[in-house]
Amino acid sequence: MSRLRVQSFAVSLDGYGAGPDQDRQNPLGVGGPELFEWFFPTRAWRRMHGYDDGETGVDNDVAEKGFAGVGAWILGRNMFGPVRGPWPDDSWKGWWGEEPPYHVPVFVLTHYPRPPLRMAGGTVFHFVTEGIHAALEQATAAAGGRDVRLGGGVATVRQYLQAGLVDELHLALRPVLLGSGEHLLHGIDARALGYACARSVAGERATHVFLQRRDHQADPSFPGREATG
Ligand SMILES: NC(=O)c1ccc[n+]([C@@H]2O[C@H](COP(=O)([O-])OP(=O)(O)OC[C@H]3O[C@@H](n4cnc5c(N)ncnc54)[C@H](OP(=O)(O)O)[C@@H]3O)[C@@H](O)[C@H]2O)c1
Repeated sequence: MSRLRVQSFAVSLDGYGAGPDQDRQNPLGVGGPELFEWFFPTRAWRRMHGYDDGETGVDNDVAEKGFAGVGAWILGRNMFGPVRGPWPDDSWKGWWGEEPPYHVPVFVLTHYPRPPLRMAGGTVFHFVTEGIHAALEQATAAAGGRDVRLGGGVATVRQYLQAGLVDELHLALRPVLLGSGEHLLHGIDARALGYACARSVAGERATHVFLQRRDHQADPSFPGREATG
């Protein structure tokens, strides 16, 4: 059965998943890159960006496993780009250039309709204006039995969590303080929603925490399970 997975979602010690004031110069928000300093040196990240080097180890292992078995993605509109309000034209095509690293259908939540955008390498961005349930239905159908990865950003993950629709949530907890930005869990009682920590493992630059809904904890195919440690 297709699962909805959040993978490699970086969070600061004080709980932020993005810095404040996102714009073209600061796609991750101001200070946001500190969240991703565990990911940038990995082989997984380097290969996504066309290099053939990169570190292996725990951080790389969990990052690579996060891409396995994924047949479609869901993103929020701010993760797709810095453009707000009605789309002025079709010129914004995401942060990732002509060949984005998805290679499968990607469903972008937005209040502003836009025709689908076909990119090199198999990525097609579909813009969904009917809300989180519609996006999940469409992504699940497109995934053809594989899992759906919920890429973010913060507001999008929060909505799916609050609706109890996330099956697995892998957080990469970074030892940094952001002080402000987009807070992942503020006001969400994840415990009451049925989530619990299935395991954690220390990586080179982040601690990886794998949350699952309690009804899924026996599932041996959860990607965190076969990670190191
Ligand atoms: N920590 C990590 O690992 C990680 C991962 C991914 C992204 N990020 C970061 O997170 C930040 C973006 O997160 P964010 O919280 O600002 O925004 P987001 O979740 O990416 O996008 C929010 C926007 O998506 C649209 N949207 C969301 N839910 C919707 C719904 N139910 N119906 C219709 N439209 C909906 C709305 O845009 P409109 O109303 O404008 O259409 C909303 O303002 C970026 O800085 C990104 O780099 C961090």
